[in-house]
Amino acid sequence: MEPNTQRLLHTFAALADLGQEIADNADFEEMLRASFHLLLGSLAIRRGAVAEYDRERGQLRIAAMRGITESGQTELPLAHDHARRLASLGSALSFDDATKEAERFLGDQKEFFGSVEIELLVPLVIRERLIGVVLLGEKANGEKFNEGDLEIVCSLARHIAVGVHSHRLLEEVERKAEENRRLYDGLRAIYKETVHAFAAAIDIKDRYTNGHSVRVGKYSEIIAREMGWNDEEVEGITIAGYLHDIGKLIVDLSVINSPERFNAKESKEMSRHPAAGYEILARINHPYAEIPLMARYHHERIDGNGYPDGLKGDQIPPGAKIVTVADSFDAMTTDRPYRKRLPLEDVFVDFRANTGTQFAPEVICAFCRAFLREIEGTSKEKRLMKLLSRNYDNVEDVGPLLSRMISDLDGGTIAASASGH
Ligand SMILES: [Fe+2]
Repeated sequence: MEPNTQRLLHTFAALADLGQEIADNADFEEMLRASFHLLLGSLAIRRGAVAEYDRERGQLRIAAMRGITESGQTELPLAHDHARRLASLGSALSFDDATKEAERFLGDQKEFFGSVEIELLVPLVIRERLIGVVLLGEKANGEKFNEGDLEIVCSLARHIAVGVHSHRLLEEVERKAEENRRLYDGLRAIYKETVHAFAAAIDIKDRYTNGHSVRVGKYSEIIAREMGWNDEEVEGITIAGYLHDIGKLIVDLSVINSPERFNAKESKEMSRHPAAGYEILARINHPYAEIPLMARYHHERIDGNGYPDGLKGDQIPPGAKIVTVADSFDAMTTDRPYRKRLPLEDVFVDFRANTGTQFAPEVICAFCRAFLREIEGTSKEKRLMKLLSRNYDNVEDVGPLLSRMISDLDGGTIAASASGH
């Protein structure tokens, strides 16, 4: 076979290998080194280097080299105008121009190259921008580079350039994705802080139920977690708990803070708050779509006797059923101006009496289960017990009642209505 043909074949093989390297290699530095050694090998070149151009820093960073210097130096300054001139030589190597530029280039880098002879300087150019250079010393057989050699050098250099460029694009995409993620997390944090601020505003307006919204959020979270909701859904319902009474912000303050039980007119005013809350929340683009509905329907009842829409059973969104139980639990376990809190046992007796009419059985059951696990010490945290211990002694005394309720509910009612979520 003619030497030229043989070399062409070799180059084709090298190009194919290089394509593979670029496509497969997760380690970019390794890819660059492998490509460079393929280039040296395909023309039997003794020494050379490949460097990436860092525009921001105005320097070349050596990615791979052989036989150039042992100084360990890997960064060479390269002024912007010099980089521009190199780029304007184009990706096709013009030997003479390159040499002139190369001489100028080498003149600037005397310390680095010392007495090492560089024969070729190949700018790596993509879209008229310099992204790196390949520097090549003499061929092992001492011959000058001919046209055929230059073609091979250019093809391989072009491949390396594309590889470097793709890698940079990928890095840029990853950086943008990371930046977007940070922005998104930031927005999410702001959203949560705003929700907290709202919850505090709602609770301040209603001075008799101080901390109610935040507690309802926590109870809702515990119940949803027990019902097997995923993290995102749990976060959503926690926020729904915080905001469920937001409609109270537009209900007459004197009604909310009335020390008496409400009369008919006041009751009517007060019963506007779920629909009013929906109106407020529906205008906001929440990360969790159901939040406005959970606020609207937290006073609905399973038997259809609730308000504002008199929804029945599974017409009520699952999240609203949870907030209803959390809301009622907090109402019964805290003092109100017109009545003291109920004994804890009575709260669960009330739950039991109203399961299937006011409350969803699967929600009551999940709440009992979560509480019982805390009492028995099989849950990670004791959040309910901590929240209740401010108002109650010996909360663990309700354990046997919870057990009975769970087995009663599991015995039949649950299976029929657990299709909710
Ligand atoms: Fe409410």
